[in-house]
Amino acid sequence: MTTLSKPTNPNFSSGPCSKRPGYNLGALSTETLGRSHRAAIGKNALQKTIEDTAKLLGLPKDYRVGIVPGSDTGAMEMIMWSMLGARGVDIAAWESFGQEWYTDISQQLKLANINTHFAEYGQLPDLSAINQDNDVVFTWNGTTSGVKVPNGDWIKSDRQGLTICDATSAVFAMEMPWEKLDVITFSWQKVLGGEGAHGVIILSPRAVERLESYQPSWPLPKIFRLTAKGKLIEGIFSGATINTPSMLCVADYQDALDWVESIGGLPAAIAKSKANLAVLEEFVASHDWIDFLAATPETRSNTSVCLTLKATPEQVKQFIKLLENEKVAYDIGSYRDAPDGLRIWCGSTVEEADLKALMPWLEWAWQQVQ
Ligand SMILES: Cc1ncc(COP(=O)(O)O)c(C=O)c1O
Repeated sequence: MTTLSKPTNPNFSSGPCSKRPGYNLGALSTETLGRSHRAAIGKNALQKTIEDTAKLLGLPKDYRVGIVPGSDTGAMEMIMWSMLGARGVDIAAWESFGQEWYTDISQQLKLANINTHFAEYGQLPDLSAINQDNDVVFTWNGTTSGVKVPNGDWIKSDRQGLTICDATSAVFAMEMPWEKLDVITFSWQKVLGGEGAHGVIILSPRAVERLESYQPSWPLPKIFRLTAKGKLIEGIFSGATINTPSMLCVADYQDALDWVESIGGLPAAIAKSKANLAVLEEFVASHDWIDFLAATPETRSNTSVCLTLKATPEQVKQFIKLLENEKVAYDIGSYRDAPDGLRIWCGSTVEEADLKALMPWLEWAWQQVQ
């Protein structure tokens, strides 16, 4: 037995992530429920989330935001199926999600002209080697290795290809150079602790131009179609979704957006996440049995923080189980395809005080498994 105090909220999962502090299901605006999503009340609610997303993120005025089915995976696949094939593709992958997109591109779409830029868990490939005359597919934050792209300096302003960025564990937690990104996707279940189900796609004017000028040679199911008669389906970007969304999830997302605004907007959300990472950095610096999987500090994720332990896989499993049994940390095991270790979510919906309370418990669990 130990007398250590426990985190008030033990939810440190990397997705779905913890609900925001003070979340209350009963406080959601539910007047849209039981109504048609195509009635003014539903469309207005969808449009408001779109407008608030753009405003809070500080997107360029000419970027469009759309809500689509299938969470982040749906958003990414819709984009890849709709846009790729017009030119060659360079893909950068350093953990399992990037590798999934590579599988889509190489084995499902079977594109011929592909350059790969791969790196092992913990590393980032050499981004300067990417051919930006090709389309470029990459994740901003490798959720399963805790390795992020440190900045967009490597992306050329005069690139010929489109940059297609899976940013689901980065948006609302990291500074992103919007002008250098042509397509950005994310899902609500990540950084904001929203519900699964829907994805968001953000398009630059060049991305829209591609959609309107290029017709892939393969069939596109209705759920993937972003254009009709060679024109962007504008409705998708103003609240007329492709098919029926969950208005409960939409209300939940709006609650998360309102919360971000209430704490001071995007800069405050990013600052919270960085302060959370700092708690782990301090702990790692003073304990020699634990380290970051990310090889360099500038690529260290401030959301999905991945850690390695000087322990056997069995000890790591036991360590995680002990913390779960004590109800101090849930879902902190590394992703199934990643090296053994911990993954502790540090996005802004996690409270710094809870991470601080967790640190002595890591020490405690370590002593138990020795
Ligand atoms: C980088 C990245 N891409 C894609 C996904 C898949 O997201 P979703 O489950 O929202 O489709 C995840 C989820 O963890 C992720 O972290």
